[in-house]
Amino acid sequence: MKQRVLGQAAVPIAEIGLGCMGMSEFYGPSDDQQSLATLTRALDIGINFFDSADTYGLGHNESLLGQFLKQGGTARRREVVVATKFGIVRKAGQYERRIDNSPAYVRTACEASLQRLGVDEIDLYYCHRRNPDVPIEDTVGAMSDLVHAGKVRQIGLSEVSTATLQRASLVHPIAAVQSEYSLWSREPENNLLEACAELGATFVAYSPLGRAFLTGTVRNNTLAENDFRKLNPRFQGEAEVANRALVEALHQLAQARDITNAQMALAWLLNKHPHVVPIPGTRQITYLEQNAAASAITLTATELAILDELFLPEHVTGLRYPEAGMVGVERD
Ligand SMILES: NC(=O)c1ccc[n+]([C@@H]2O[C@H](COP(=O)([O-])OP(=O)(O)OC[C@H]3O[C@@H](n4cnc5c(N)ncnc54)[C@H](OP(=O)(O)O)[C@@H]3O)[C@@H](O)[C@H]2O)c1
Repeated sequence: MKQRVLGQAAVPIAEIGLGCMGMSEFYGPSDDQQSLATLTRALDIGINFFDSADTYGLGHNESLLGQFLKQGGTARRREVVVATKFGIVRKAGQYERRIDNSPAYVRTACEASLQRLGVDEIDLYYCHRRNPDVPIEDTVGAMSDLVHAGKVRQIGLSEVSTATLQRASLVHPIAAVQSEYSLWSREPENNLLEACAELGATFVAYSPLGRAFLTGTVRNNTLAENDFRKLNPRFQGEAEVANRALVEALHQLAQARDITNAQMALAWLLNKHPHVVPIPGTRQITYLEQNAAASAITLTATELAILDELFLPEHVTGLRYPEAGMVGVERD
């Protein structure tokens, strides 16, 4: 697995990380033992950048990572780069959320995350969503205090606009920006990717497989009742049918290279930008290994151009989130 660096501290990380969200919530039932085995295998094959958030399973995801870290002792803790997030506040069983960015909340949330993870310091701590009523300077100021207190190593922002990133960077270096970025979600190409490069921030691409849609393996009618994707506009009705045609075209291109759709989608990200680190989510070792193999794939300029064109925003049908999911998402 090739490596990239995380933020201004240039912490070495695998160029493909692991999204842990589905191990707790959103994508149907999961099994802790299976998830722990997947985390173990990830480290074995060099994937050391694990992505969590306090809201995933309302603490379950961080506790699971904490259990994994504890099992491996100090050596494992040193090996893993743990990223987690604060700011989305939900009630059990509810998708709807409110956003809390107040300095007092930042401090309390950080203590709770440290506890659940069982670590002294969080390697990368993100503000998960913005509440525009709280000046970003106040939120990042509180995050900066956590760095000075030794509780957080580097800080990040998720789903922010370029303007917010620039304002925040005047208070404290922003090591990473995490936003949805994949073949079918291209907003960061407007300005954000460039701003990250200028500021020395790593761009962490979440949902790089389009929540599995791009892999061609999911259908709305086979998803579990509590699977969040059932409500996602791109997975519904005519949008699903139209988007599936794009995925079929991706499949033809991938087949021609003897690689999977997932590998082509990840290689597209890695080949386009040296500062992008995708964090595909999986609970399955087979998928994990397939995704890791994308690190060795070089796409030609022609292939990149064909993929760019195929998935232009105007060719994709439906919004990337239901309305409730857009709360706190900033746009350029
Ligand atoms: N900052 C934010 O607001 C935010 C929002 C969403 C997600 N995230 C982070 O980003 C991570 C990744 O995003 P995501 O999980 O939403 O979406 P994703 O990585 O695009 O897709 C994950 C889905 O794809 C499936 N999958 C993975 N590899 C596959 C392969 N090779 N072939 C076929 N299917 C495959 C997974 O199945 P299995 O699980 O069954 O293996 C899962 O259903 C999350 O885990 C989370 O840490 C952050």
